[in-house]
Amino acid sequence: MITELKNDIFWIGFVDWNVRDFHGYETDKGSTYNAYLIKDEKTAIVDSVKAPYWETLVKNIKKYTELKDVNYIICNHAEPDHSGSIPKLVELCPQAEVICNAKCKNFLSMYYDTSDWNFKVIKEGESVSLGKRTVTFFDTPMAHWPESMMTYVPEEKLLFSMDAFGQHYATSGRFDEDAPLSEIVLEATKYYANIIMPLGRQVVKALEKASQYDIEMIAPSHGIIWKTEIPTIIELYKKWATYQVDKKVVVFYDSMWNSTSMMANAIYEGAQSVPGVEVKLYDVKATHITELATQVIDCAAFAVGSPTLNMTLMPKVAEALTYLQGLGPQNKLALSFGSYGWAKKAGQHHIIDYLKKMKVTLINEEPYQSQFKPTEEILQEGFEYGVKLAEYAKEQ
Ligand code: FEO
Repeated sequence: MITELKNDIFWIGFVDWNVRDFHGYETDKGSTYNAYLIKDEKTAIVDSVKAPYWETLVKNIKKYTELKDVNYIICNHAEPDHSGSIPKLVELCPQAEVICNAKCKNFLSMYYDTSDWNFKVIKEGESVSLGKRTVTFFDTPMAHWPESMMTYVPEEKLLFSMDAFGQHYATSGRFDEDAPLSEIVLEATKYYANIIMPLGRQVVKALEKASQYDIEMIAPSHGIIWKTEIPTIIELYKKWATYQVDKKVVVFYDSMWNSTSMMANAIYEGAQSVPGVEVKLYDVKATHITELATQVIDCAAFAVGSPTLNMTLMPKVAEALTYLQGLGPQNKLALSFGSYGWAKKAGQHHIIDYLKKMKVTLINEEPYQSQFKPTEEILQEGFEYGVKLAEYAKEQ
């Protein structure tokens, strides 16, 4: 496996083939925790790996240098998937200074006993010379946490971008040219939808900052390193960060006695009768929230259905809506639908409450409803709602 990014700059991370859950995100392709080593007159380590994998990190460092010769440990982000092995590195690298910003120092001190750490607290735009090369730091607050920053090596046109541009994607190759582009883009989309989506405004600012730099390589903290496909991922980030959408409609629902399922299918059939619009239909019992978020990110319109259960929603629909509300999709037309037995103002109105908390436009203040099993007239109404959603999507 080639792990040299540039002359004397190496990947020293951990490939986690078997992780399947990342605080709720279904990582069906595993992940990597990328750490890097820059060998110069001074040696710097950029980030670390999850705590249980520190021995692999140390073994990788020892391929290129002695631990006693490590001068700096750069911490771009305090989240433990990247900072988790820093306590061990501090213990094993006696002369290393931990470089981070003031917020990150504060966060690290709340995770670990940092009382004997030798910190070098840097400010926005500050540089540290390693000899032939320098490392320059710039803050990218809320991409992913308030203390997040990126590290740039101008002499190599190399950006260590932290979580931004990452993917939860385990591979044996380290670069974008080592895996099928469609697979990398899918995993980058999933990653953005499930982690970065709420932070669109901050991502735009981070992109503006990064665009001041000449970049030949982007080395994120997860997944492959961008080398030949940098324009592809930059364009995708611009699209997502500005909430641009595709000609696409997503319908998702749960059903109890098939009534809401019949309504979902009527909406789906109406939407797919409009040419040139992609339409997706998901029963939430069969679809993980990670996939739903990935599908919703670039849709122009979506419909959410649930029958009324105990005066509220089916739990899987509530789970999906709670998750989506946190992610904050924007710039979409939305419809609430479903069946009820005797409480007309319950379940589907709760969907409306969720949708109102998102920055989406309701197609109708009232939900599309059926009392028990939908009649032919009600199914025709669903078909027409589907057509409206798809025609809206087609205009985007
Ligand atoms: Fe991969 Fe925000 O940590």
